[in-house]
Amino acid sequence: MIIREAKFLASNSRVDQCPPATLPEYAFIGRSNVGKSSLINMLTGHKGLAKTSSLPGKTQLINHFLINGQWYLVDLPGYGYAKVSKDSRVQWGRMINFYLHNRENLTCLFVLIDSRHAPLAVDLEFLETLGKDGIPFVIIFTKADKQSGSRTQQNVNSYRLKLAETWDELPRTFVTSATDQTGRDEVLAFIQEVNQQIGQKTDNA
Ligand code: GTP
Ligand code: MG
Repeated sequence: MIIREAKFLASNSRVDQCPPATLPEYAFIGRSNVGKSSLINMLTGHKGLAKTSSLPGKTQLINHFLINGQWYLVDLPGYGYAKVSKDSRVQWGRMINFYLHNRENLTCLFVLIDSRHAPLAVDLEFLETLGKDGIPFVIIFTKADKQSGSRTQQNVNSYRLKLAETWDELPRTFVTSATDQTGRDEVLAFIQEVNQQIGQKTDNA
């Protein structure tokens, strides 16, 4: 898919203030610092579109980006950052829960997981709640440039084994690197495929 145009629209804490729910929406979620904002920049080819930081907790709101005037990408704040106060964690939970359950055009949730780690409880718990709530998602393993391809594959496989303990059907998975563009074509092709399935016109490559 060609990205002709990627435009920041708005940051909101409330779902009812988000842009009109009239286009397919793809949202990025995962632990703080896992690389959500960087991945949005990599996919769109616009370096400074979503704000990134080496310090966790950079993204605090629901950020909407309009792509080719045809679909939305959404950058969400991360979870699992140890230094966040209990109040902030509760607030995050409320905002995200409300978003996930009430944003009617949410088409697919991308859950980002750091490809360097063995399965982490905080990620597994989050996936568990998505399953319980019936929210469809795919998994993106990030930062693949940080280790060898075989090491990444080992980690992805151990994740899949762990998930298979509780899930009958495993979600679709992608491996990406915002640094060397690994996975860009695959993730964009997936979005295009889903857009076509739901009858949304998208620009072809
Ligand atoms: P929050 O908004 O705080 O939840 O973080 P985030 O998930 O949006 O992470 P962000 O994109 O801000 O990236 C966090 C740090 O990881 C930054 O220093 C990025 O440069 C780095 N980073 C992100 N993706 C990659 C990647 O694929 N490879 C490498 N090497 N570094 C990455
Ligand atoms: Mg971010």
